[in-house]
Amino acid sequence: MITKILEDFINQKIKKLNYTETVKVIISNRKELCDYQCDACFKLAKIYHKSPIEIGTEIVNRIQSSPECSEYFKDITFVPPGFINMTLSDEFINKQIEQMMRQEKFGIQKPEKQDTYVLDYGGANIAKPLHVGHVRPAIVGEAIKRIIEYMGHKTISDVHLGDYGLQIGQVIYGCLNDQKTVEDLTLDYMEMIYPKMSALCKENEQIKKECAEITKALQDGNPEYQKYFIKIKEISAKDCKRIYDYLGVTFDLWNGESDSYPYIEMTTEIVQNLLVDSEGAKVISVTEETDTKELPPLIYQKSNGAYLYATTDLATIYERMEKYNPDYILYITDSRQSLHFEQVFRVSKKSGLSKNTKLEFLGLGTINGADGKPFKTRNGEVPKLDYLFEQIKCIFLEKKEDNKDMQEEDIDKIVNAILKFADLQNNREKDYIFDISKFANVIGKTGPYMLYTYLRIEKILSKECVTHQMSNCIHNEDDRKLRLKLLELEYALQGAFTERMPSILTEYIYSLALLANTFYQNNHIQGLTDEIKKQDWLCLFNLTKNVIKDMLHLIVIDIPKFM
Ligand code: ARG
Repeated sequence: MITKILEDFINQKIKKLNYTETVKVIISNRKELCDYQCDACFKLAKIYHKSPIEIGTEIVNRIQSSPECSEYFKDITFVPPGFINMTLSDEFINKQIEQMMRQEKFGIQKPEKQDTYVLDYGGANIAKPLHVGHVRPAIVGEAIKRIIEYMGHKTISDVHLGDYGLQIGQVIYGCLNDQKTVEDLTLDYMEMIYPKMSALCKENEQIKKECAEITKALQDGNPEYQKYFIKIKEISAKDCKRIYDYLGVTFDLWNGESDSYPYIEMTTEIVQNLLVDSEGAKVISVTEETDTKELPPLIYQKSNGAYLYATTDLATIYERMEKYNPDYILYITDSRQSLHFEQVFRVSKKSGLSKNTKLEFLGLGTINGADGKPFKTRNGEVPKLDYLFEQIKCIFLEKKEDNKDMQEEDIDKIVNAILKFADLQNNREKDYIFDISKFANVIGKTGPYMLYTYLRIEKILSKECVTHQMSNCIHNEDDRKLRLKLLELEYALQGAFTERMPSILTEYIYSLALLANTFYQNNHIQGLTDEIKKQDWLCLFNLTKNVIKDMLHLIVIDIPKFM
């Protein structure tokens, strides 16, 4: 990584000045002034009781007087009150670009140690149709998984279906009431009976109680209910898979809450001495001394003996530890579950259940409609995902007459790009407004714009013969900017990886596409007679194309053939 190379060089010089502290280098936030910067003079000044100006000038002088200085920098200056501004030399830029071109994965460093990550995302609830609320955990989770893998780690993904809750009892109740046998069950029937039962339970306490009893009996192993359950899960999971397939989201494991039941007994043994009786229920206190507000205890078992969502999550940790002994378990789901996970994590640590494994909750904001309220259909319902895909498709097709001639497969890729680019450009913790019409545009910060940029570059390259040989020149400012942006790739990837923020990578792709477009507008490659310049630019375009393609793949966007 460029920042790392510059840090190593500068720190070596600082050491020669007898300072043991090391400094960090960051990408400049004022590109008109310099390419990279170091803001550490203030910190050093404090530690060594000097002024920032004194220490900064000393460091810069030392670097400037070293023979290697010009290999790295065209310019390095101290700027009061305490900044070191760096402009990279052409030689340095080109050497790095060359490496990016030649090396696998653009030369990004492999990790010192390969970690194993379990990723828990998707989280659909069976027997209920997937709705807009499920799209975010699926695509953010998938992007985080792909980024982690790209950085050289091992991942195991689990969809972790909500498959043992009240909704199952409700559907079984409906079946029994309508005299539907297990064989009669269909997806259509389930989609009809679930909302009906859910509404009924809200009105009628008695029915609600009966549904809860069926759920409890199911969890206790009632053979008749188990048969219904297996069929409900089979039908429903198949439909979930259809939608996840459409989104390009895949899982290694299709487990759910119910799969944790065999591990509850062993989990109970581990948490045994934390369990406290509370009005017949078994609970675990999770408060810690440093808490500023009181956290309610985790309810482990209800007074009727039933287990809860938290119990299944603890038992699932037990299972994952046994089977995979991961270094990390990441949960990617709605922010509103943060309390639940805080409780689960605390119990897990306190009891030793998760040993040294790091548990992370990666909360997600809500997708809102153009009115700023949670996304709804025209008649006020939470839209099913199929409806959302249809909507996006219609709006895109209406944008341009030619769009209608596109192949179905390509249209689906564009629908995906519209949805995903709109989502992943936002900090995952924040709510955002999904304005389909805006995100379906071919200009602006949209998926179609990224695809269009890619296809345009591809078209230019297809007409030329690229020799993959570059000279040592940088030909103008647009050229220099594009090279510098390419060199920021590893920094963006590293940021997206450590912060678990696909938005950092998405922003990078967008800024790269913008520069590539500016470059293309200002510099006509096709007509060039200067063969050296032409080959340099073709190489640069080729690299840009490959970077865009691979990075779009990480944010789960596939490129259509034409658009
Ligand atoms: N099914 C849950 C829901 O819809 C999300 C599951 C998240 N994962 C977990 N291990 N709890 O809210």
